[in-house]
Amino acid sequence: MHKIRVDLHERSYPIYVKNEILSSVGQILKQFDIQPNVVLISGKNVSALYRDVVEKALEEEGYKVRFILMPSGEANKNLQTVQFLYDRMLDLKMDRGSTVIALGGGVVGDTAGFLAATIYRGINLVQIPTTLLSQVDSSIGGKVGVNHSRGKNLIGAIYQPKIVIVDPTVLKTLEFRQRVSGFAEVIKYGFIRDRIFTQFLLENFADILTLRNLDHVNAAIIRAIEIKSSIVSADEWESSLRMILNFGHTVGHAIEHTAGYGTFTHGEAVIIGMCAALKISAQMAALDTKTAETFISSLLRIPISGSLQSCTPETLFDAMTRDKKVRNGKIQFVLLQKIGDAIIQDNVPKEMIMDVLTWIKDITFAKAL
Ligand SMILES: NC(=O)c1ccc[n+]([C@@H]2O[C@H](COP(=O)([O-])OP(=O)(O)OC[C@H]3O[C@@H](n4cnc5c(N)ncnc54)[C@H](O)[C@@H]3O)[C@@H](O)[C@H]2O)c1
Ligand SMILES: [Zn+2]
Repeated sequence: MHKIRVDLHERSYPIYVKNEILSSVGQILKQFDIQPNVVLISGKNVSALYRDVVEKALEEEGYKVRFILMPSGEANKNLQTVQFLYDRMLDLKMDRGSTVIALGGGVVGDTAGFLAATIYRGINLVQIPTTLLSQVDSSIGGKVGVNHSRGKNLIGAIYQPKIVIVDPTVLKTLEFRQRVSGFAEVIKYGFIRDRIFTQFLLENFADILTLRNLDHVNAAIIRAIEIKSSIVSADEWESSLRMILNFGHTVGHAIEHTAGYGTFTHGEAVIIGMCAALKISAQMAALDTKTAETFISSLLRIPISGSLQSCTPETLFDAMTRDKKVRNGKIQFVLLQKIGDAIIQDNVPKEMIMDVLTWIKDITFAKAL
């Protein structure tokens, strides 16, 4: 079993990574003195697959498990679902000593996490993320919350879990496209912090995405978690360093918005956004042009299903200026000086951004491995 510690003083917590770890969830919770009353929260797909194994593991260790089926999907990540969860928690007589266990992807983790952060002013939270994205990103760092009709993630808190438990083998049931989406974030960590890791990922992406080589999958997840944890540990409240986690997201978010949610997965849009950021890095930061081109062509071997047909450079630029990461009217870019070394820049000229947005329109995406 691999253990990574998120170092946040009295709010520090461990992340455990191991194949088939779901059947040991009860033993892990017991080690942390988690009290017997626990509520397992999960969506329809994931509960059909993994509820039984988790419940059994908990019950074997004497836990009294209550289950709440949460309406899943991004459209249900809202205050109405939180209200429903509050009601169910009170119906089930859950008290301040109870623990919320979130079993699912980022939607379940963010929503159940917000419930745990706010009910009785905060009760124990255990995250069991089941998508690659949630395993390497959303379950770590304590951002919990829901969407508002006027925008994504507008309501939330920073509330750290007590334990995170990651089972890479659950990715077997995850759709390929969702694996690609999480993999984009894994590569992002490489680009901002670790050149050798980036090379490893781009050389072995097919083995990782198909799960042909579980050792590589584990290595990718563990290193990604280490990098995110170290960044969160150094900057829990997102004052500066944590912003480098937005590498590829300035253009990525604009693509997601403009192409219409669902056209691209988040990660697919981030892959294109990383290509754009590499191009700009070669002009505005010290990144060598040849290196940028080599990494762009490697990135573009990863299959991307969406199409940029409905986007123009102008609509993409507009979306960028509306993003919540715009500060004082300036668009913030995370750029690379070298692979593995990121900086924040807010003075990229508009013409350069427009050139890159024009360029991405002509990219031909790989459609299969
Ligand atoms: N808190 C943070 O720091 C943070 C960071 C990034 C993203 N997010 C949030 O995460 C959410 C996206 O999360 P996501 O990408 O995990 O999507 P998701 O939670 O919607 O899951 C995607 C789909 O996969 C299914 N699924 C999950 N695990 C499965 C498995 N093992 N096998 C089969 N099917 C499975 C789900 O039922 C769902 O249909 C967004 O709401 C985003 O805002 C939060
Ligand atoms: Zn992201």
